[in-house]
Amino acid sequence: MRKITQKTNDSATKKIVHLFFILIVLNLSVFAQQQQPKYNSFIPGEKWLDTEGIHIDSHGGNIIYVEHEKTYYWYGERRGEPRGASCYSSKDLYNWKNEGTVLKKGAIKVFERPKVIYDKIKKQYVMWFHYDGVLDGKNYRIAELGVAISKEPTGPFVIKDHYRPNGNESRDIGMYIDPKTQKAYIGYAAGHINKTIRMVELSKDYQSTTINDIDIDAHCEGPGILKKNGIYYLLTSECSGWTPNQGTYYTASNIMGPYKKQGNPFIGDVGNNSFNSQPCYIFKIPGYKDAYLYMGDRWNGRASPDSAYVFLPITITSEGNMEIHWHKEWDLSLFTPEK
Ligand code: GAL
Repeated sequence: MRKITQKTNDSATKKIVHLFFILIVLNLSVFAQQQQPKYNSFIPGEKWLDTEGIHIDSHGGNIIYVEHEKTYYWYGERRGEPRGASCYSSKDLYNWKNEGTVLKKGAIKVFERPKVIYDKIKKQYVMWFHYDGVLDGKNYRIAELGVAISKEPTGPFVIKDHYRPNGNESRDIGMYIDPKTQKAYIGYAAGHINKTIRMVELSKDYQSTTINDIDIDAHCEGPGILKKNGIYYLLTSECSGWTPNQGTYYTASNIMGPYKKQGNPFIGDVGNNSFNSQPCYIFKIPGYKDAYLYMGDRWNGRASPDSAYVFLPITITSEGNMEIHWHKEWDLSLFTPEK
């Protein structure tokens, strides 16, 4: 009888201890959730945590807005493991959920600057990127464009091809989609080595390059493109690897040029280094008038996963000049909502 009572007591104690541990774990996870950031602004150059509290690892990429999902997707280079193209999703551009590595680079030596575009007709996502590796004993000498396709924004993206567009070397890439015609263009650092930027039109399904391919005659990198009042603005960096340098913009009345060199749009840029960043894309934020988002990378060392982002609003003045001003912290209320 005593034995039975003892046993009952033991199992009751075990249950209580068990319950106690469950409560601790639950509490910890609630506490962890409370620790998650809920951003309502951009803070350029600072650590930027995803919804799990980990610094966003998505460099040199672009953002798209998928209308039917009312969701933004941010693609970029995942510099941590598994390396390749990362994808994050967001409803507000401030808070991002990690959707994983949507294209694993595997044996590809250099996988950089992915840019994704949604093909509304075929209902698929097309990713272009800088494909590179060792040739004649030197890295970055393959110099090709790569293209990959996915049915879902969150991948997996499957590589379809990689090649030199119209025989030209291709390294840093930018992308522009004409909102009216839905035609897409890739600006690419071309020539040996990055002697110039070229602009190439993509096919209707965005899966291949056309022969409409021109030389802009500008020795630069990191192209970002926007259009305002019938003028195309091409924002670029100089060529100094991961080290930031002075930005320059060019203008043209036709996307295929001719382009005219204008100057440094980074106003008050005392370090002459694009506010310590390098351009990777210009995202026109839907729903706001003239809301052009400068996406820049602040490469840490040799582009480590904890490299930061410099996101700033771009202004086109009434005189037609491109200006990027520093903001320690800012939000979308800077822009006027479209009716
Ligand atoms: C930069 C370029 C980066 C990366 C790096 C390698 O100039 O913008 O995307 O290619 O060189 O050194």
